[in-house]
Amino acid sequence: MSTIKACIFDLDGVIVDTAVYHYKAWKRLADQIGLNFTEHDNELLKGVSRVRSLEIILELNHVTKTAEEQTELATQKNNWYVDMINQMTPAEILPGAKEFLEACRAAGIKTALGSASKNSSTILAKINMAHLFDAIVDGNHVSKAKPDPEVFLKGAEALGVSSAECVVFEDAIAGVEAAINGGMKVVGIGEPAVLNKANIVLSGLDKMSLELLHRL
Ligand code: BG6
Ligand code: MG
Repeated sequence: MSTIKACIFDLDGVIVDTAVYHYKAWKRLADQIGLNFTEHDNELLKGVSRVRSLEIILELNHVTKTAEEQTELATQKNNWYVDMINQMTPAEILPGAKEFLEACRAAGIKTALGSASKNSSTILAKINMAHLFDAIVDGNHVSKAKPDPEVFLKGAEALGVSSAECVVFEDAIAGVEAAINGGMKVVGIGEPAVLNKANIVLSGLDKMSLELLHRL
C-alpha cells in the first residue's frame, strides 16, 4: 500500500512554460541598460527568485547596482512580464498537467502548488486551473528560496500531510534539491542528466500516472 497522500507542483516549467516570457522581459531590461543576457544565461534563472535572478544577471556582467536601483529594475522587468502573462490562455497548459491533477483529485490525492513566483495567482487564473489546487504556496508566502524546502514544507502543512507522504514535481535543479531537503520524493520534469537527484525524471506530466506515483 502506497503512503503517498499528496502531490506538490512547481508552476513554471511543470504546469506552464513561462521561461520564454521571463527571458523576453529580462532580455528587454538587459538591452535597455546595456548588459549581455542570452537564452543560455536564462537557464540559470529557472526556479530562482526575481531578486536573485537580477543579481545573477548583474554578476554575469560584473556590474553592481544599489539596492534602490535593483528594486526599480526588478519592478520594470516584472511589469513587462505581467503584460505578457496577462495574455496567457488555457492553451498554454503543458501536455498532461491538467489531466494528471484531475486524476489525483479523483483518487483522493491532495494537490498543492509550490512555486517561487509571486505571479502564480495571475497565471492560474489565466489558465483556469486555480480550482485544481487544495493549497497554493508561492513567492508571496516564503522567505527562503529553493533549494530551501520552505515552500514545499508549507504546502505539506497546508494540506495536513507529512513530508514522507508527498511527491514534488519540479523542473529546476534548485527545486529538486528543495524537495529532497524537505524529505520528500521528487519527480523531475526535464532532462535526466540535469535532474539526476530526482527519484525519476519524465519529459512531462503527460508521462505521469497514478500507477507510477504509487510505485515511487
Ligand atoms: C520561478 C521561475 O517559478 O519563479 C523563475 O522558475 C522566476 O524563473 C521565479 O524568477 C520568480 O517569478 P516571479 O513571477 O515572482 O518574478
Ligand atoms: Mg520551475
